[in-house]
Amino acid sequence: MTNTATLIIDGQSYEYPILVGSEGECGIDIRELRNQTGCITLDPGYGNTGSCTSAITFIDGDQGILRYRGIPIEQFDNGPNFIEVAWLLIFGRLPSQVEYRSFANDLNAHANLDEGMKHHFEGFPRTAPPMAILSAMINALSCFHPEDQDCEDDETFRMAAARLISKIRTIAAYAYRHSQGLPYIYPDHKLRYVPNFLHMLFSQPYNHFECDEVMRDALNLLLILHADHEQNCSTSTVRMVGSSQANLFASCAAGVCALWGPLHGGANVEVLHMLDDIHKNNVKPEEYVQRAKSGQARLMGFGHRVYKNFDPRAKMLGAAAERLLTSLGRQDPLLDIARKLEEIALQDPYFIERKLYPNVDFYSGIILRALGIPTNMFTVIFAIGRLPGWIAHWREQQQLMANKIARPRQIYTGNVKTDYTPMANRNSTGA
Ligand code: CMC
Repeated sequence: MTNTATLIIDGQSYEYPILVGSEGECGIDIRELRNQTGCITLDPGYGNTGSCTSAITFIDGDQGILRYRGIPIEQFDNGPNFIEVAWLLIFGRLPSQVEYRSFANDLNAHANLDEGMKHHFEGFPRTAPPMAILSAMINALSCFHPEDQDCEDDETFRMAAARLISKIRTIAAYAYRHSQGLPYIYPDHKLRYVPNFLHMLFSQPYNHFECDEVMRDALNLLLILHADHEQNCSTSTVRMVGSSQANLFASCAAGVCALWGPLHGGANVEVLHMLDDIHKNNVKPEEYVQRAKSGQARLMGFGHRVYKNFDPRAKMLGAAAERLLTSLGRQDPLLDIARKLEEIALQDPYFIERKLYPNVDFYSGIILRALGIPTNMFTVIFAIGRLPGWIAHWREQQQLMANKIARPRQIYTGNVKTDYTPMANRNSTGA
């Protein structure tokens, strides 16, 4: 391939460099386009737009490949714990034993919320969506930890990252306890990240929740598989907000809001509702697929902007759901329905032509349900998993794009210059 692209406008040619990434992906560098030609590019939904270079996560959507810092995600099955992967994403390499211990100790040290923060939970109605509470309380961390506001140096950044990764789990658990009218359970320093979270969710003051290894491993894997996914909607939001030099907490709070929507992280809730509806109303999976094809419904947990092949996370989560249910000695009719929907869709020309495959959200809800986590907490769990990715991208953006605010352009299609009409002279439509 040549290393430049030529663009001809009104007979005049312009040359633009082609950048090639470490895995051979190429992009035309149009940074000088507007200066030179007066034109911009138009790409609603950004399907063809690279907003940055990044060394964190590689996806090959045609082949169904996902790697964190070069490591294929399949190698995380039965391997590391979530905190090791968080370190890998944020700091660019696997931690040594000393680094891992020190980071784990920092997480333990910062697991508690300021007692003042606890009162904020009381202000929310019991029925408040936990994603709204999560975003608000992550933002509120900026008020309680002003020392982390300006984390340009490595040590302050490391501390802010540890604080956030640790506290998001406490906030999530407290949001759930508040919704149930249950007392808040303090973190237990003897427990590791995942068991500590389940303890804060499910223990009672008089009864300690015992987390068995099967549950721990299933949630650990689920968090790892959600930990990063390059420039998705919420991560791009975090980078966008961070580009204005907003602090880490504010940027990640914005990421939570972006994740909330049903086309993004909120899809895991919608998948469960869909499977439950099919089950309760005895809908035939064939009939539901038919509805999805005719546009009456959407097959939630299917399709992806980048994957035009199997999402490798869906494969791993489907297998993990089977393993978990077998180990717990349970059956879940929703898993059978999901398997049937997948089987039918993957043989149907509508889904084949459009290259629609199960995505990460298709099986995750079955796992969370088996762990006893209520449906309205599913996207919160996604956020806990995605946080290391957001932090890694926030830092990368701060280092690579220093002082360059993200500010897309537009093609204006509104009125041309129009004069102001005084109120008394306007008709009933305001004209
Ligand atoms: N069910 C039925 N038809 C679908 C689906 C689906 N789940 N997804 C896409 N299509 C059809 C769509 O109607 C369109 O058909 P046509 O060309 O005839 O108009 C075609 O496939 C292309 O779809 P699109 O909406 O233009 O594709 P996109 O890249 O803009 O959207 C998506 C990707 C993930 C938003 C979409 O596939 C979708 O809505 N899926 C269901 C929601 C979901 O599972 N979201 C989770 C995404 S993965 C995790 C995450 O990001 O959090």
